[in-house]
Order: sequence, then C-alpha cells, then structure tokens
Amino acid sequence: MDKKIMHGARYIDLREVKADGDDILIVGGGGREHAIVKKLRDGSGVGEIYGAPGNAGMDVIETGIGATDIDGILDFVSTHDNIKLTVVAPDDPLSMGLVDKLVAAGFRAFGPTKAAAKLEWSKAYAKAFMKKYGIPTADYGAFTDIAQAKAFAENSEMPVVVKADGLALGKGVIICNTKAEAFAAIDEIMQDKKFGAAGNEVVIEQFLTGYEVSLLAFVDGKNYKLMPTSCDHKRALDGDKGLNTGGMGAYSPCPAFTESLLETTVKTIVEPTVDGMIREGAPFKGVLYFGLMVDGETPRVLEYNARFGDPETQSVLPLLRTDLYRIFNATIDGTLDNIDIEWSDKKSINVVLASGGYPLGYKKGCEITGLDKLDNSVDVYFAGVTRGENGFKTNGGRVLCVHSMADTFAQAKKQAYDNIAKIEFDDCFYRKDIGKNLN
Ligand code: AMP
Ligand code: GLY
Repeated sequence: MDKKIMHGARYIDLREVKADGDDILIVGGGGREHAIVKKLRDGSGVGEIYGAPGNAGMDVIETGIGATDIDGILDFVSTHDNIKLTVVAPDDPLSMGLVDKLVAAGFRAFGPTKAAAKLEWSKAYAKAFMKKYGIPTADYGAFTDIAQAKAFAENSEMPVVVKADGLALGKGVIICNTKAEAFAAIDEIMQDKKFGAAGNEVVIEQFLTGYEVSLLAFVDGKNYKLMPTSCDHKRALDGDKGLNTGGMGAYSPCPAFTESLLETTVKTIVEPTVDGMIREGAPFKGVLYFGLMVDGETPRVLEYNARFGDPETQSVLPLLRTDLYRIFNATIDGTLDNIDIEWSDKKSINVVLASGGYPLGYKKGCEITGLDKLDNSVDVYFAGVTRGENGFKTNGGRVLCVHSMADTFAQAKKQAYDNIAKIEFDDCFYRKDIGKNLN
C-alpha cells in the first residue's frame, strides 16, 4: 500500500495493483468520470484505473496529468504497457483531437475523433449538419461578421437565442427577449470576446418552448444503442432560479418522454445523425448526447454533445446491467450490434452538493464530514474534492453528488435527501427540488 511511483517530475500514489485485468486511463476528474469508473469496476477484465487527472474520491491512481495535457497523456500511455484503453470523457480533449492522436500512436481510445466531435465543438457546424440532413432544430443564422449578425437579429422575431460557436463551459448561450438584448449579446460574444475564440462565430436561433430531455447513445460508427432518457437541472437554485451551472442534479428515466416520442426521435434525429456523420466522412464512435426540446409530440435538437453528460451520467450509468468495458470495446470495434445492453427499470436520481457562491466565486479547502454516516441506499460520486486530514476537503464548485435508485422516484428521492442531510461542509448548498413532481 501507499507505494509511490514516479511519472515525469511528479510522484503518484500506487495502491495494490491487480495482477490480472487490463489497466485503463480515464481522462477527466469529475462526478461523471467517477460514475464511469465505478461501472467499469463492476464489470470484468479491468485491472487498475488511472486518472488524468482523476480526483481524490474517485478510487483511481491520480497521475497529476491534466485532462488537456495531450502530450502528457500520450507520454503516460506509451510508458505504461498495461494500459489497454484510454477513455476520454470531457469535451476539451476531444476537441483537441486526443482520440485521433492516441489511435495514430497505436493505442485504443474511447471517444469520437476531432472531426466527429465537431457536432459539439462547433454549433455552426452542428446547425448546418442538421439543416443538410433535415434534422428538426430551431431555425437559425450563423455569422462571422458582427454587422450581418445584427442585421439578422433586427429582422428576427423575439425571443432569440444567441450562442457562441465554440466550447464555452455551457455558458456561451444567451436568451434575448428584445432586439437590444440580442445586439448586446452579439457584442459580448463577438466584440468583447467574453468566451474567447469560441465567439469568432455566432449562431442566432429561434427560441423554442417545451421541456428538455437528454438522450444518450453508444454509437460505434454505424450501430447505436440508446441509454435511458434523463433530465438535468442546470440552474443553481430551486424552481429553476439563479445562474446556469454545469448541472445541479439529474434523474433518469424521464417519465414524460413516451415510447411514441422515442420512436419519433429515433426516426427523425438519432438515425439521420448517425447516418449523416458517415456521409460526412466522420463516423461517430463514442457517446452521442442529444439535448432535446420536446414540444407536444415534436422533439427538436437543442445541442449535440460528443460525450457523456454531467450530471446525467451519475443517474443513467447506475442503471446499466451490462459490462461497461465490453460496451466500450464493442463501440471501438464497431460490433455494438452483437451485444444486448440491459438496463434496470429502477428510478434513479442524483443531487449535487456545491460550494456556496458557485457558479461564481467560492471557498475551497473546507472539511467534508458525515460521509461515514451514509447508509447503503446511496452512492457518492466525487467531483471537486481533495484529501484532508481526516478524509476529504472541498476543492471545487460542484463538490460531490449523492445518487440513489429505487422502485419509485418518491423512494429514491427520500433516500437521497435523508442521506444528504448527514453531509456537512462550510457553505454547502444543493437544490431541494430535483425530480420534484415525480413519484
Ligand atoms: P445549449 O448549450 O445549446 O444546449 O444551450 C444551453 C441551454 O440553453 C439549453 O439547455 C436550453 O435550456 C437553452 N437553450 C438553448 N437553445 C435554446 C433554444 N433555441 N430555445 C430555448 N432554449 C434554448
Ligand atoms: N449536462 C449537460 C452537459 O453535460 O453538457
């Protein structure tokens, strides 16, 4: 125990390494990555799991290598022969071509190529793709010129949604009720470069009404397997008030989303997307996330993500009954059609505990207590934590999430919230209304 190995200039902890099984490197270090790691460990054939960077609560060997340190990751994989798979979970390294680079160097990697991940890292590309293949989405215009963007807004019916083209931590989306707001949003994104180079182009689109659902699928290039639907809660405060966050909790499945809606989604959105990417010469391999707005019987695409969602994954993956390592391998090998993927029909929910002030400024280094008092009706997925004197200390905005599942949402919620009440750290806050109207 507590051996240390050297990587580059950094020492990393090395716990007892299992003799058999393939080692895996997971890129990322949040609750989503913890949920992936836990599922991988539930299956067979997995040896040690390393994190780039991982976090203190994730039960991985933390390498100290950042998720966007592409050279560091390549170097680590090439000097650790037993790493048989690298799982790239976050958007940034995907957009930087990490999967392409690993594959070119002869390593196995789970996640889309840079060209396929463009569905996420360029909203203008995603919109043009949907238009080309007749995939339902809001009408839009895309502009690299400020005057043209403003002229389009001037002639649009309000409200509109102004979006930075590139990755902006989910923050580059501004809903505008008046033309003055739309002009201001265009200036913020394109002139003031509030989201940096992500704002070199803007998408201006029609405001859609309805409710939001996340639908995730494993896609192996040509075959796909859907996961249960889920719902994220993006605003910081109860009643969908406050600022947009990375997500304050989620549940799965989404009861409002009927079988007939699912059929429509598959026919009008999922299949045309998978087929369209083949035609574009960029077949999608990995997890494809459809962010949908549902209006009556009509689902439309709000956004694509080229990866697992956070915190949806912390509710969806616990329902998985099939070996995740097998699914990852089948996705890479293009053999998803050969495996049946089974899901529990339990109701699943997770609630994020965050540091006061998040998504703006917050304190770090607060001791987390009460984790030893939790009963076994819940699991904890760690995100912004580091080691403390007696356990963990806070180290980020979203600190951890508590997950529970049961035969009913009512029971799952009770289990989650009863246990959350036992956890304490300075300025801790969480939403009390995750899955509020569900029974
Ligand atoms: P996006 O990153 O494009 O998914 O946008 C983030 C959030 O903004 C979505 O989850 C929606 O809540 C909202 N949003 C984005 N586009 C639209 C739209 N066209 N109409 C209404 N709301 C939208
Ligand atoms: N939960 C939304 C996302 O992962 O982008």
